[in-house]
Formats: sequence, structure tokens, C-alpha cells
Amino acid sequence: MRLAGKRALITGGFGGIGRKVAERFAAEGATLALADTAAGESPVADARCYRADLGQVAECRRLAAAVQADLGDIDLLVNCVGVFEQMAFDETTEENWDRNVDINLKGVFFLIQAAAPQMRRRGGGRIVNITSIAGSQGFATAQAYCAAKGGLLNLTRALALALAPDGINVNAVAPGFIRTQMTEHQWTDEAFMARLGRMLATQGGYMEPDAVAAAVLFLCSDDAAHIHGANLGVDDGWLAGLSATAFT
Ligand SMILES: NC(=O)c1ccc[n+]([C@@H]2O[C@H](COP(=O)([O-])OP(=O)(O)OC[C@H]3O[C@@H](n4cnc5c(N)ncnc54)[C@H](O)[C@@H]3O)[C@@H](O)[C@H]2O)c1
Repeated sequence: MRLAGKRALITGGFGGIGRKVAERFAAEGATLALADTAAGESPVADARCYRADLGQVAECRRLAAAVQADLGDIDLLVNCVGVFEQMAFDETTEENWDRNVDINLKGVFFLIQAAAPQMRRRGGGRIVNITSIAGSQGFATAQAYCAAKGGLLNLTRALALALAPDGINVNAVAPGFIRTQMTEHQWTDEAFMARLGRMLATQGGYMEPDAVAAAVLFLCSDDAAHIHGANLGVDDGWLAGLSATAFT
């Protein structure tokens, strides 16, 4: 059991990727707290669930304090929270911009700021942020999302440097095309899937969220003790470049 005795907070814990991370962590012996705006039964037995709007700084602070009061200081924080709102350039509104940036970037920073003292008291910890291929590459119809994920990527590096002296490893996992509710409009679109299949070197389609969870588990395991500020792609080679079949 790679996470025995560890206490983990997973945000977006009711989402497609978050719940797979939760399942993996539970199987490895971690005690779990899941946070989400979604309500309902916990996706994982024995996890404590918290409702919080993590686009708001006060809610991030309240969440960190509540988890500490219930479970004690945490060792692991995985930020799977996110919104993906596509919007054409001319139609992008202040509201769209703020939602993407507040939830995907600002809240992540302030939750880390609130949780880091707990990890310091534990003598160290692990933080994994879920970035995206859109953090390293532009997508024409998602400027606010790209800005937020690009910011999250470089925030991960800056925090890795700031927190390494405390024994806290901060890293990111950058998913490509993952089959969750967030991307349902794409993986249910046959024409989109045919184009994607040609552009991926694997000629595959959408990956299952467990592929991302496996990378997160690795970064939270002892095997990743010397990894700081990495952005581990789980993208079937998307960011490596163009596939041989991209133009066929
Ligand atoms: N699915 C993909 O292809 C893909 C690709 C790249 C990156 N990502 C990233 O992975 C992460 C997880 O996405 P997913 O695919 O599991 O999507 P998802 O929609 O299934 O999960 C996201 C979760 O975040 C929660 N959430 C949204 N706003 C919130 C808020 N203000 N406060 C608290 N919780 C909130 C949602 O309720 C949901 O449960 C996101 O950061 C996303 O940007 C996903």
C-alpha cells in the first residue's frame, strides 16, 4: 500500500478524473477528503465529502480548515477541480473569463496556501495540479481556459521552488483527451473523433480517466520523491508533435 497512513484532499472529487484518483488512493490506503460543488453520495466508500465553491478564496480557506478539524493535517492535495468553457474570441465575456481563471487557477493557489502549513507540520507533503495540454498549447476557442491552465503550469513550477525547502513536492499532470463529463460534447461527436484519431500518434481516441489517476498516484508515491515542478503529460503523445496521419 503506497499511501498507507496518508491523508489526502482531492478537489473536483466527484468529477471523472477526481473520483478515479480517489479510488486509486483509497486502494493504496489513504484516508480521503473530497471537495466539490456537486452533491450526493460519495463516489468512494469512507471518504469525507465537502461542498465548496473553490473559485472563491474564502471557501478554499474554509475547506482547508474543515478538513484539518475532521481528519488532522493533510499530506496530499490533488487539485482536480476545473471548468472547461469554450468561447469564441469575440464572445468571451468577463464572466466567462472570471469563471475559468477563478476556478482553474486562483482557487488552486489559495487552497495550496491554506493547506501548505498542514503539510509543513507533517514534515512534508505532495501537491499535484491537473493542468492540461491547453496549458502548453493554444486552442482557438478557449482563450480563458488556455490562459488559466498555462498559468497553473507556471504556478506549479513557482510553487515547487517555494515549497521544496519544506519537503513539499509540487507537480502537475497534463491530460490530453479524457472521457469525462467535461468533454462529453466531443467524444459523442463522431466527426470530431475521426479527426482526433488521425491526429493522435496512437490513433486512439479518448483515454479513460484512470490513466490520469495512475500518473497522479506515481507523483504522490515514494518513487517520485525527487520530482519537483514536473508537468507529466498523459496525452497519447499529443504535445510531442504531429502524427504521421495528421494530414491524411
Ligand atoms: N477531461 C479532459 O479531457 C481533460 C483534459 C485536460 C485537463 N482536464 C482537467 O482535469 C480536471 C478534471 O476534469 P474532469 O475531466 O474530471 O471534469 P469533470 O467535469 O468530470 O470534473 C470536474 C469537477 O470539478 C467540479 N467543480 C467545478 N467547478 C467547481 C468549483 N467552483 N468548486 C468545486 N468543484 C468544482 C465539478 O463539479 C466536477 O465534479 C480539470 O481541471 C480539467 O480542466 C481534463
